[in-house]
Amino acid sequence: MKIVISSGAGISAESGITTFRDAGGLWENYPVMDVASDEGFARNPALVHKFYNERRAQLLQAQPNAAHIALAELEKKHDVRVITQNVDDLHERAGSTNVLHLHGELMKVRSMTHPEREYKLPCDQLTDKGIETTPDTRDSYGDQVRPHIVFFGEAVPNFDRATAMVNNADVVVVIGTSLVVYPAASLLQYAREGTKVFYIDPKPATVPSWVTVIAKPATEGVADFIKMLDEL
Ligand code: APR
Repeated sequence: MKIVISSGAGISAESGITTFRDAGGLWENYPVMDVASDEGFARNPALVHKFYNERRAQLLQAQPNAAHIALAELEKKHDVRVITQNVDDLHERAGSTNVLHLHGELMKVRSMTHPEREYKLPCDQLTDKGIETTPDTRDSYGDQVRPHIVFFGEAVPNFDRATAMVNNADVVVVIGTSLVVYPAASLLQYAREGTKVFYIDPKPATVPSWVTVIAKPATEGVADFIKMLDEL
């Protein structure tokens, strides 16, 4: 079966990665428009580099959890595509081989003059050889680099690919997202008539009645979903 996963920060919560809008979330501790918007980056690039350096350090301490791993295992029996709003690489580290990032990738930076030049950190083609970057970090062409993140105010280049994947799916599973950030939050609307749609979240947002809600944390909810899958 063609299964499309649409994951948000909640799937990484049990790996110790802070979500954005839960109590104590990232946006309670950082002014989002200062550290995750295009104007904020233009205003104070050093602060934005520092914010993402801190999140990279947190990510390196984190491991994929049972939900990430179960989804990777699912590839043994089904055609599984993962669309994620997350910038962490926990789906990939769990073994998922088909992961589409809508909001960028934390462990990558890209040239500010040639955006097609992406660098996976740590990268010896950069003047800063570790996982930390600054506005003075240059690539081997001498160009400044920026976090490979879709800032608020910027386009989501992979969205059309994501909608096509959802439209082609037999089963869609939305996991751990508050469904407040568009266009990612609209993805489940692209499911064809008759597609089975599930939403796994301990505090689920309101969704249409045709969505099967599993109001549990991702590690439990994904296990429940996999049991249900055998009966689909
Ligand atoms: N398992 C599953 N879901 C969980 C868990 C868990 N253990 N813990 C929390 N959640 C759920 C919360 O109930 C909430 O619905 O995860 C969701 C987290 O919501 P947000 O913090 O808003 O994260 P997300 O929806 O991914 O944010 C979307 O906003 O700031 C931007 O670019 C950023 O990609 C992000 C986007």
